[in-house]
Amino acid sequence: MEIFLDSADINEIQKWTDLGVIDGVTTNPSIMLKDGVCDTENRIKEIANLVFPCPVFTQVTTDNISEMLLQAHHFNMLAENIVVKIPQINQNGVPCYGVMRQLENCGVKVNATATLSVAQLMMAAKAGVSYISVFAGRISDEGGDANKVISDSTLWLKRWEYKSKVIVGSIRSVGDAVSAALAGAHVVTIPPIILTKMADHRYTRETVRHFIADAEKTAEMFCRG
Ligand code: E4P
Repeated sequence: MEIFLDSADINEIQKWTDLGVIDGVTTNPSIMLKDGVCDTENRIKEIANLVFPCPVFTQVTTDNISEMLLQAHHFNMLAENIVVKIPQINQNGVPCYGVMRQLENCGVKVNATATLSVAQLMMAAKAGVSYISVFAGRISDEGGDANKVISDSTLWLKRWEYKSKVIVGSIRSVGDAVSAALAGAHVVTIPPIILTKMADHRYTRETVRHFIADAEKTAEMFCRG
């Protein structure tokens, strides 16, 4: 299973890359806004360069299907390791699968995003996308069973040998990240604050403090002069 960082914050991306635990970076327009990025194209190039050859995900920002295609090709030219996020449908419910299929046929890697059901996942898989983003937190927001959606999705893709990988996003807690991983997600994309919590444990800190104290006592007792 892979872990991606769900962030556009360069310092966080550098930090988690140096720690050696991330395999890619996902962004979306809301993350760009939250992280105060005004020149999104330059930020994507910067991230792509920093994490190369790991993939960097950037999302189209138009609701118009023909413009999506042009924008996706443009984003794809920014770096070798770009994956373009295309929503399942636009805001009027028009399916975007034709754009996904055309892009994948041209060698552009596509992530079908804002997926909230197994039915939508099947449609994107049929369109031949490389990745499908299932939004666990948003499924739960509406009373849905995110873990069931994730496990049904990965089982179905495997049974019929589709190439698409399931990225579980919209992770709001350590529990969400672990549940998604155990439900069979191929990738879990995690915000920096949750990754920090995943590493930490009160009792581990206390255990390490104890070891350090004992090492100091040993040095004092047996190694004096
Ligand atoms: C993942 O790719 C999405 O960009 C992101 O995780 C959505 O998260 P949210 O539902 O917390 O906004």
